[in-house]
Order: sequence, then C-alpha cells, then structure tokens
Amino acid sequence: MPNDAVIVLSFADPDLAVLTLDDPQKGANVLSQRVLEELSAHLDVLEKRPNLAGLIVRSGKPGSFIAGADLREFAASFDVPKSDVTAMCARGRKLFQRLSNCPFVTVAAIDGICVGGGAELAIWCDRRVMADDAKTQFGFPEVKLGLFPGWGGTARSSRIVGLANAVELVTSGESIDGRMAYKMGLASDVAPANRIQDAAVRLIRAEQTSKQYLADRRRWSGPPDIDETELGFLGATAYGYIQQQTKGHYPAPLAALEVMLGAATVDIDSACNAEAEGMAALFGSPVNRALINVFFLSDRSKKDTGVNRPDVVPRPIQSTAVVGAGIMGQGIAATNLKRDLPVTIADAAPKALAAGAHRILEDVSYNKQTKGPDPQRAIKYAALLKATTTDAEFANCDLVIEAIVENPEVKRQLYARLEPLLREDAILASNTSTIPITRLAEGLKRPERFCGIHFFNPVRKMPLVEVIRGRQTSDETIVTAVAYAKSIGKSPIVVRDGPGFLVNRMLLPYLNESIELLLDGVEISAIDRAARNFGMPMGPITLFDMVGLDTAFYAGRVMYDAFPERIIVSPVVPALIKAGRLGQKSGAGFFKYTAGNERGVADPAVKTLLEPMIRDHQKLSDEQIAARLFLPMLLEATRLLTDKMVRDVRDVDLGLIYGLGFPPFKGGLLFWADALGAAKILEMLKPLEAIGDRWKPTPMLIEMAKTGKKFYG
Ligand code: NAI
Repeated sequence: MPNDAVIVLSFADPDLAVLTLDDPQKGANVLSQRVLEELSAHLDVLEKRPNLAGLIVRSGKPGSFIAGADLREFAASFDVPKSDVTAMCARGRKLFQRLSNCPFVTVAAIDGICVGGGAELAIWCDRRVMADDAKTQFGFPEVKLGLFPGWGGTARSSRIVGLANAVELVTSGESIDGRMAYKMGLASDVAPANRIQDAAVRLIRAEQTSKQYLADRRRWSGPPDIDETELGFLGATAYGYIQQQTKGHYPAPLAALEVMLGAATVDIDSACNAEAEGMAALFGSPVNRALINVFFLSDRSKKDTGVNRPDVVPRPIQSTAVVGAGIMGQGIAATNLKRDLPVTIADAAPKALAAGAHRILEDVSYNKQTKGPDPQRAIKYAALLKATTTDAEFANCDLVIEAIVENPEVKRQLYARLEPLLREDAILASNTSTIPITRLAEGLKRPERFCGIHFFNPVRKMPLVEVIRGRQTSDETIVTAVAYAKSIGKSPIVVRDGPGFLVNRMLLPYLNESIELLLDGVEISAIDRAARNFGMPMGPITLFDMVGLDTAFYAGRVMYDAFPERIIVSPVVPALIKAGRLGQKSGAGFFKYTAGNERGVADPAVKTLLEPMIRDHQKLSDEQIAARLFLPMLLEATRLLTDKMVRDVRDVDLGLIYGLGFPPFKGGLLFWADALGAAKILEMLKPLEAIGDRWKPTPMLIEMAKTGKKFYG
C-alpha cells in the first residue's frame, strides 16, 4: 500500500472490514480517478475474502465524509466526446454498484458532509448510518453545477427513498440531515458522530441474522414502486415547480426529472444507462461550464486571505458595533447576530434606532421551519443586541462598522468623534458604497486600522462583501476584515480604493443607462423585463427603488465627479427625490409600495412626472435593451482591470454574481464576454457608438479582439 494512499483497509472484528477514506493531501475527501482506482483494488480483495460478514465505508476526517467528485478532473474533460462521458459514468456506477452486490453487507458510516459522488457511493451501500448533527448533510448538489448525478445516484435513490423523494433531492440539489434521511428511509440509523461506527457494526450483526439486505437487493434491482396515477401527478407538479424556479435558465433539474420519470418502469441497469446518457448531454454544456466556473470562483475566495503574504494573521473579532440603523445597518447587525456576534447599534435619530432595532430582532427571530417569529430565538438574540444613543458603548468593540448617510462630510465628522473612544487595536470600517476610503481616512489618527467593509443590499441575501484597501490600510486590517466577513458567512473580495470600488463602479453605468433608456421612451416594464430575461434577479429600475433613490443619487454624484465623460447627468432621479419618492423605504419610488409589501406596483403618477423629460419613443427588443444595459458594465470592467482595481479577473465575476446577482448560469460577466469573444463584442458596440463617447471600445477590448486573448487566460 503506498503511504500516500487515500483509502486504508482495517478490521473492526476479524469478519468486519473497514475502508477509511482520508486524503493526506486535502482537507476534504474528493473522488478523483485515483481514489476510485483505490476503491476498486480494495473491493477486488474484499470480494474474494472468505468469511467476511460486512464492510463499513467511513471517513478519517471528522465532520467530513466525501465532498464529491473531483471537479478539476471534470473540467479537464469538458471537450471529450459524449460517448466517453457515458462510458465514464458507467465505469463509476459499476464500481459503486459492486457495493450492492458484495457477498456481505455494506454500510456507509457518514459523519459530516456527504454530497455528489460521495452521496452516490454511500447510496450504493446496502445501508447508511448517519451522525446526528448539523454538520452531517447528505445531498446531490449536481444540478447547481448544471449536471445531475451520473454514477447511478438518480436510479438508486428512486428505489431506496421512493421516486417522489428522490426527485425532490436530485432536482432541488438541497441537502438533508441525518434525521430527515432516517425519516425518508435513506439512513437506517442515526447516532452521535463518535458512535456511528458502533451503530454500523450493530446494523451488520442484525442483518447477518435477518438477511433483510438480500431481500432489499432483489427489490431495488427492479423498477421503483409507484403507480401510474402517482407518476402522472408527480410529473405534473414537479415540472411546474421546476419551471417556476429555474425560469428556463437552468436545464439540469428538468433533464433530471425527465430521466427519472422515464426510468420509472425499468430495471436498475436500464435506469442507470438512461441516467448516463442524460448526464452526458449536460456535461460540458455552456451552463455546466459557467456553473463550474462559479464553483471555482467561490472555492478560490474561500482560500484567499486577502493579501499575498502568508505571515499576516487576522485579529479575532468578538464584538461589533454598527452606526446607522437604516437599511444596511439593520442587515449588517442581523447578519452578525445570526453568527452569535454581539452587536451594539446606534443612530443619530432615536426613532430610526428604535425602528431599526425592532426590525433586526424581527429578522433574527424568524424561524424558517415554522415560517414565523420564534420566541426562543428572540430572547437569545435580544441579549446580544444593544441599541444605544451614547458613544460610550463603542469603547470595547473590536470592530465598528459605519453605515450612515452617504455623505463624506457627515461620515468624517462621525469618525472624528468616535475614533478617540475606540480601543487602539479596534478596526473602524465604512460601508460606503462609493466614497474613496482614502478620502474618508483624512484626519484619522490611525488610518492603518481603517478600511471599507462594503455589504450589499439585501445583506441577508447577498453573499458579497468588498473589503476596500485605503492607501494607508495595513495588511493586518485587511486580513482581519476578510476573516471577519467569512466568519459571518460572506464571500469577501479585496478591492483597491477608488470611486465605486468594484461592483458599484460597474453597476453605475448600468443604472445610468437604464435611465437613458427611459428617456429614450422605453417603458419601465420593458427595461426591467429585459434585464430579468438576461437572468438578473430584478430589473435596474426595481433595483433603484431597493437601493433608495437618495443613496443612488449620492453614489451617482461620486461616480460623475470621477468619470464625468461617461456618467450622464439626468433629471429623473432628482425629480423623484424632490417628489418624496425615495424608493421602497418611503413607500414610493419608480413604483408604489403598500405597507409590508416589498413588491412595487406601477404608479401612473410616475408616468406623469417623467412625461416632460422623455425625448424619444424608441421600440427596442429585449436583446437590444440587454446590450444597452450590460455592455457599459463590461466596458467599465475592462477599465477597472486596466486600473488594477482587483488582484485577479475572477474577482470581477465573483463580485457581480455575489453582489448583484449577475446570472450564475452565465458564469460571470467576463466569463460571458469570453464566450462571446472580444471581436463579437466590438461588433455589438458598433451601432451604439453613435449614441455617445461612452460606447467607444476600450483599448483592452480592441487589443483582445486583435490577439484573440481572453479574460480567463
Ligand atoms: P439609510 O438612509 O437607510 O440609513 C442611514 C441611517 O443613518 C439613518 O437611520 C440615519 O438616521 C442614520 N444617520 C445619519 N447620519 C448619522 C450620524 N451622523 N450618526 C448616526 N447615524 C446617522 O441608508 P442606507 O441605505 O442604510 O445606507 C447607509 C450606508 O450604506 C451609505 O453609506 C450607503 O452608501 C451604504 N450602502 C447602501 C446600500 C443600499 O443599497 N442602500 C448598499 C451598500 C452600501
């Protein structure tokens, strides 16, 4: 046995074999070709071994069973012929299938994450025992990568937990815990993590006598147990639900449903063959490539400390304060609380403070299961939240995040008052969306402990945090801010200082162009629809209302000051502000909002207000509108890459996906642009150049079109 082996054979009893997966090179076990070969070699030996009663498959990594197949190997095979993909699926499946045909009982003892290929390996065992804790999750997340399980996962799960449960597991990509798995019949037992091997041994001993596993083997080799009426009902409801969820942008869940329903009357081998064919059709598709790119973006972000020096370590953040109890302050405070970080919250307006604290508690005490407030949670979190009108409370905080009005003067006045009260080693951060950090740091005694920690709206939903490095910000402050953002479940990217940083610098030209489209006579509904059809979670006009027209106005002004040649000053936003229409928060913006309803409705008053400003009556297709909205974003991306605002092009794509909801199925803005190619983009820009200088191709794009270079080298 080589000493870098991932799978090690041992014996719990003379007749009980144990295969332990523990990759010495990695934090999590991943099923690479090499690991599959090791498994095959072990099974060759064990299948021939006389007098074996059972085999337990387990992980040597506490809290982590198997994280799935090796996606880098997948990505390296994107261009192989479809027949090779089908053969690859068949090979993997036939290997795992041996676990359901061994001359002894096989049990997967699952402690921790068990997903993708790992879940397929486990489901081919005769039985599963799962740890009874939150870390232990079983699931098939392949649809989130534009695929579905291809090593027999759809076929085998349909037989073990029933077709309806299997369809839900596979098409949602969501994981279930041990208890849910037990309820579903997927797990035969749940036990504390340190007792699952004992539970597996007990199970094998019981099966030795009952021989129930042999009856199950026979049963599960036939078709799943479902009648025609149930099948019809399942097909119709699942189809409708998936259509509504994916909006036609993500083909994998429907493809999985089709394969699973189609295999409802055939034996397991035929079902597996159909599964492999279906999987091969998705493998290497544009959506699959895009989603795997997103996976790699996120994986890279998890490993990045924020600086290129290994010697800088983050300071622990154990208590936080948030100044400004508005939209963003509430979101930031609630996110901290949910990770059990104590928060002090303050606001200049006592009414705003009271309302903010109320909404924070409402948010954190919401119970997803009961879909209502949970008194236990409310009590727990109320103890961690302190709403204050005095500055004294800040003295003990490790981190103070300012989220007050987007005005540099007001922000600097606040810092001048707060900084002397803070501990020397405390970090002060601004949530500003556009104002350069170096400008805000003017006058600070400890500018090295100041940085931007820029959250996105709504904080609850958007995973991105931009950590902004001012000219004097220290490496230690950056790594601490990055580690803090990760500790509250966010994905940080480090951005150089500058107007709009990364995401807003690209967002502003997009928002700006949406107003220009309005003035060209394009309907609000048409603009928003075109953006949604492109894949954005909401249109730019709705986004204006969500951000707040006043905040958007200030942000626009900062961007205009920096880039007057390409930000167009328009009278629309000021007119709405003047009419008291600040967006969702004030009950009216471009749309009208009824109390407690986040969805706005069209308001004829807005049409009247805008009428005198409309200069044209253009009728544009969705595609033309999308080009007007997204090409300015791309042009800006090339400018900020030239300005070296980020350390890696991948930060641009991660930033837009996690900060703005740029469609993951397009893989990111630059990934999408690479798929089109720079030459095609220049072609798309050509007819727009007449509108104004802001449409001129940038030197980077021209160069890329000439050389055929891509953003992703
Ligand atoms: P908001 O208007 O909802 O809340 C601001 C709060 O700050 C108000 O409650 C106000 O009373 C309070 N405030 C004003 N001056 C103060 C002072 N001197 N001391 C203490 N409290 C003071 O604004 P929002 O939207 O929460 O924005 C706050 C900051 O976050 C701004 O810098 C904004 O650019 C930034 N931001 C906003 C986003 C958005 O979508 N709204 C997204 C990301 C960042």
